[in-house]
Amino acid sequence: MTKGLKQRIIEKVSPDLEKVEIALEHHLEPNLELVKKIASHLLFSGGKRLRPLLMIHSARLCGYNNGFEIKFSIIFEYLHAATLLHDDVVDEADIRRGRKAAHTKWPAPEVVLTGDFLLARALDIAAKTREPDIISIIAKITRDMSQGEIDQLAKKGKLDLSEEEYLEVIERKTAVLIQGACKSGAILAKAGKEQEEALSQYGFHLGIAFQMADDLLDYTATAGELGKNPGADMREGKLTLPLIHTLANASPEDKEWIKGVIKAAYFNSNQFEKLKEKLYSYKGIEYTMDKAEYHVNKAKACLDGFKDNQSKQLLCLIADYSVERKV
Ligand code: IPE
Ligand code: IPE
Ligand code: MG
Ligand code: MG
Repeated sequence: MTKGLKQRIIEKVSPDLEKVEIALEHHLEPNLELVKKIASHLLFSGGKRLRPLLMIHSARLCGYNNGFEIKFSIIFEYLHAATLLHDDVVDEADIRRGRKAAHTKWPAPEVVLTGDFLLARALDIAAKTREPDIISIIAKITRDMSQGEIDQLAKKGKLDLSEEEYLEVIERKTAVLIQGACKSGAILAKAGKEQEEALSQYGFHLGIAFQMADDLLDYTATAGELGKNPGADMREGKLTLPLIHTLANASPEDKEWIKGVIKAAYFNSNQFEKLKEKLYSYKGIEYTMDKAEYHVNKAKACLDGFKDNQSKQLLCLIADYSVERKV
């Protein structure tokens, strides 16, 4: 099923993807070789290019189709890449997309500053849209993402993290960027407020579903599939929805055992398997999947008012893929 969906999406977007790759390389324009190396290490390592695709097809859904949507879409991949460089430093994560994370190859200060460089490139290109609302969106994304990450750090190891607190974190760290890409597509197309809001809401719900799926994969996928180590969230003391729901429903003994594992921040493969059993038996996995699907359906419903075309079909497929994906 997943392969089918992924295949169908790739067939529809491969011409766009080729152009996005070229634009990403062309517009990077670093002065320093080191910046080029660090930025390229992450940028050209097999990302799905979800955010540019969302902007391109949001713009086209609103009738914008003059080719500039490709150039402007890379704003959101540069922004995404900047946050991933920063995120792996913050999370002390060693692997990203199956390769060594940048900060394990170069010193963290250079990596963080390269993230800032990518953010600046995103702003440069955004300025060229001559749409101040797009610049404001980028400012909001950066503001929210940095605070989402800081909030997540502050809540590291918090064993009574609530579902509401979790939602607030994922909204800021993930949904706002995806939402911004979709909304900016509508702004670029000079769509009316109604369409702009519909695409903004589509992106928001997609972003929430996407992060919930990411949090599920951290428990259910293999390292090979993920391109990063499973169980990383727990090792980082990051409580995500599968675990939050499980803790809220576990027996006192199981709760104590799980809390002990989180506090120790270490677990062997037997303990990880046992933990996964608890996530299934207390329905933490099922609950998270249901919530993610709820947001996928909400996202798709936001597109109801648009007339049926290739871009609408694609945005619906991407919504389905966001929870069925294995990477
Ligand atoms: C990873 O995003 C970070 C999250 C928000 C979960 P993606 O899964 O889109 O990462 P790449 O770009 O395809 O590697
Ligand atoms: C999502 O955070 C990515 C960003 C907001 C930058 P995570 O820490 O959950 O993402 P992964 O697991 O490192 O990709
Ligand atoms: Mg991380
Ligand atoms: Mg994660």
